[in-house]
Amino acid sequence: MNSQQDARRPLPGMSSPQIVQTFCEFFRERGHHRIPGSSLVPRSGDPVLFTTSGMHPLTPYLEGRPHPDGRRLTDVQRCLRTTDLGEVGDRTHLTVFEMLGSWSLGDYPGSQSLRWGHELITTGFGIDPGLLHATVFGGSDQVGPDTGLAEVWGELGVPVELTGEDNWWSSGPAGLCGADSELFVWTGSAPPEGTPGTGERWVELWNHVMLRYRRLADGTLMPLPRPNVDTGMGLERLATVLQGQVSVFGCDLLQPWTRTLGRLWPAQETSLRLVTDHLRSTVVVIGDGVTPSSTGRGYVLRRLIRRALTSLWRDDPARSLSDLPPDLTGQTLSHFGQLTSPVQVMGVLLDEERRFRDLLSRGRRVLSRRHNNEPLTEEELRYLHQTHGLPREFVPAMLSG
Ligand code: SER
Repeated sequence: MNSQQDARRPLPGMSSPQIVQTFCEFFRERGHHRIPGSSLVPRSGDPVLFTTSGMHPLTPYLEGRPHPDGRRLTDVQRCLRTTDLGEVGDRTHLTVFEMLGSWSLGDYPGSQSLRWGHELITTGFGIDPGLLHATVFGGSDQVGPDTGLAEVWGELGVPVELTGEDNWWSSGPAGLCGADSELFVWTGSAPPEGTPGTGERWVELWNHVMLRYRRLADGTLMPLPRPNVDTGMGLERLATVLQGQVSVFGCDLLQPWTRTLGRLWPAQETSLRLVTDHLRSTVVVIGDGVTPSSTGRGYVLRRLIRRALTSLWRDDPARSLSDLPPDLTGQTLSHFGQLTSPVQVMGVLLDEERRFRDLLSRGRRVLSRRHNNEPLTEEELRYLHQTHGLPREFVPAMLSG
């Protein structure tokens, strides 16, 4: 170990409830009102399937409507993202996660948000300032570089990298958007090296978005009536860093799942992570009132369950979700303040498991009529999907059964 490592502060080892308390208290002391987090299912009439970020439920207020609780807000919001599905199983990605958020609705500027962010990370959470790196929007043909924010990081002694698209945040192809500044922490065992753009040991922790525009369908950027600051920090990632874990699957929020499933259904690490993520997310989605179906939200849920089963059955086709302990699902439902019971969740899971087994046996019967053992052709894969409702991602489960 070299002198730079010796000089680092020990990890604070905070539990997730302590992290939430520290975060909300810090912002409460700075005039923010804590608002309750919302369901994963947005209000009716909202075109979005699921809440994908902390700011989503606040959209009307970020667009200018006065919020009843004032102009400084904070909360913990559960989110579901399936855009990163291929990355689940790595060290940092989850489909359902919680976001610690703070907002200035046309109140204080982004520079203040960065200063508070730095204070909370280093003083409140005790992260060594020498392990931080920031990125700032470097400009585009429509919006200039955020040199003001780069200067703030400079004053705080945090190295900065200017990037393009990576530092432009948008809630969708059209809608609220703006330049952002991301704070990264070094998670390597050796001293920090490179920049967030070049080294995967830099983990993004906190995003501060200068939400100043609404993008119209034709691509035009319309300035909002007042500029907002929207910040979001992944609770599981922060817990992972503070608890000195290698991946989010080791932090206290995920560990009960990883430990229980690892005992129940031993598997290679990436599969165990995928099954852990998908089944835990499934419980939260069902807890918010969604049931599997062939379209929309229900299809997202169906896909999560079937992906988990595909992975479980690859190792042993006799495995069943009926072995999932009710204590585990109950703990997660109560963590998210959901009233759905573990028995209801199990009913949904087993019904879907039965449908999937039936579908796979139907698919196997279709395949048994083939006259060769060659790999499936594109045409056969298309036929299985279109005629028998078996998407190609589930075909391996059928072949291995
Ligand atoms: N909206 C931003 C994000 O989701 C910050 O909250 O990263």
